Amino acid sequence: MAAAMSWEPDESASRNAAPSPDVAVVTGGIGGIGTAVCRALADAGNRVVATYLPQEAELAQCWLGDRRAEGYHFIALPCDVASYESSVALARTVESTVGPVGVLVNCAGITRDRTLAKMEPSQWFAVLRTNLDSAFNVTRNFIEGMLARRYGRIINISSVNGLKGQFGQTNYSSAKAGLLGFTRSLAREVAPHGVTVNAVAPGYVDTSMVKAIPEPIRESIVEQIPVGRLARPEEIARVVAFLAAEASGYITGATISVNGGLFMA
Ligand code: CAA
Repeated sequence: MAAAMSWEPDESASRNAAPSPDVAVVTGGIGGIGTAVCRALADAGNRVVATYLPQEAELAQCWLGDRRAEGYHFIALPCDVASYESSVALARTVESTVGPVGVLVNCAGITRDRTLAKMEPSQWFAVLRTNLDSAFNVTRNFIEGMLARRYGRIINISSVNGLKGQFGQTNYSSAKAGLLGFTRSLAREVAPHGVTVNAVAPGYVDTSMVKAIPEPIRESIVEQIPVGRLARPEEIARVVAFLAAEASGYITGATISVNGGLFMA
């Protein structure tokens, strides 16, 4: 790690090292995968800011308390990632009260599963706004700082279903596939400036999102997974932390699948 840097934007063209300790922002940080990502990034030495939906303030307080009991001292801030204005406010608050952000994990996501023939416009737009527009909303507000400091690690959480498609998920699969195009395009734009952009594509993870799938359908999905079980959130988080490390600077525009063999490409 480089020596601690000040909060002043670095004009030096030669800087290409992480501020220390790195501030890491994890959207959807209080969720199933998000929580494991927060822990893994903290274990790697980052100061972690988890975002939560503004209407989940009480839940976020409980989450902070539970994490403190585990020995983690996270910061939690409200942000509706589907809203550009909310993302502007998040970036301003983080950078003025916590510090320059070196790591951004776009993890917030929802499902509204329905076959297309039955899908309501609201189900389509909610998923696209939360799972794809969010990457623009949030990243747009952190990217300038990363470029100015010539350092950044951006990790977008996609999905196996963005790669292979899934019955009942035209909305979700479209958004998660869109994140891969976003990842590759942005990776090209910012690579010369010390910023990497990668995607992690989890399979079915043991979280409340997957538990919400009706049991017979969930069981039939697990039967198709060569490893024979759901992923543990930690198995996704360790890959995120790997990509977030300063030493991973030569990996960019990549998609790393962590899906138990459900889809191999
Ligand atoms: N393949 C083929 N046919 C299927 C099917 C499947 N996977 N699932 C259901 N069908 C059939 C149904 O049996 C039904 O047949 P009938 O009309 O003959 O009864 C027909 O297709 C239509 O089904 P529904 O009317 O029930 O359709 P629906 O619009 O109400 O939606 C559904 C059903 C909610 C999509 C349900 O199939 C489902 O929950 N599927 C699981 C979707 C899934 O995998 N979600 C992942 C959530 S977790 C996540 O997204 C995290 C991640 O990144 C992996």
